[in-house]
Amino acid sequence: MDQSIVTRPLLALENIDAFYGPVQALANVSLRVEPGEIVCLLGGNASGKSTTMKVILGLLRPRRGRVRIDGEDVTDQPTAARIRRGLASVPEARRIFPAMTIEENLRMGAYLRNDQQGIRQDLQRVYELFPRLAERRRQLAGTLSGGEQQMLAMARALMSRPRLICMDEPTMGLAPIIVERVLDLIVQINRQGVSVFMVEQNATLALSIAARGYVLQTGVLILEGDARALLANPAIREAYLGQRAAATGPDRPSTDAG
Ligand SMILES: Nc1ncnc2c1ncn2[C@@H]1O[C@H](COP(=O)(O)OP(=O)(O)O)[C@@H](O)[C@H]1O
Ligand SMILES: [Mg+2]
Repeated sequence: MDQSIVTRPLLALENIDAFYGPVQALANVSLRVEPGEIVCLLGGNASGKSTTMKVILGLLRPRRGRVRIDGEDVTDQPTAARIRRGLASVPEARRIFPAMTIEENLRMGAYLRNDQQGIRQDLQRVYELFPRLAERRRQLAGTLSGGEQQMLAMARALMSRPRLICMDEPTMGLAPIIVERVLDLIVQINRQGVSVFMVEQNATLALSIAARGYVLQTGVLILEGDARALLANPAIREAYLGQRAAATGPDRPSTDAG
């Protein structure tokens, strides 16, 4: 490859400060996602993970700092413009439309597109990836289990043909066996060429599939690095893995993970 070509991060946050009224939620946060990567953002409750997601998606305007997609400054662009540039979101608590059918939910994911044939192809593609949704395409989404709703939210995000999917706590509240399935699907989606930025409280799970990770504490990034290095980091083990394991009981990280 030509040495002069410098690849740009797909997504970059540069020195972000974000506030809710007078309350600062993020201070000087910088991070990036390279094409093809799974990157996770870890941190305890109220550390600013969802706020970071809102800044990326254009739902909260930072007071300082820039958001870039492919190097281009999108800080002043609305959410729809960012979706057109390849961003998609799987929001916290999934937020599917319960009174709409599964297929209608999926079509909502393509609301900015008008290539009907492409949309039909992508419906086929997500039904292959999520056969459970195909079986139930005419059923109301509100009748799905928590795990199935998570899969629907992921499938809906894929319907915009994104290059980067941002997921806020995709395993939250799911039974361990479903968590495994969701993580497996995230890896499969990534192998199809979609980059993933995921927010998680469960550090062990997230780091088991991510290439790199960042750790937030009360709005400040305190650690970042290669997933393997973070998993081995004594500070992480103590502050997150240990604490999480003790706090969540059944979600205790299994020793044979990975
Ligand atoms: N809409 C809001 N208005 C005021 N404060 C908020 C709002 N959303 C979040 N916060 C505060 O910002 C901080 C970070 O919240 P959040 O990003 O949701 O954390 P996390 O997702 O890591 O649990 C918390 O102190 C939270 O109380
Ligand atoms: Mg959150």
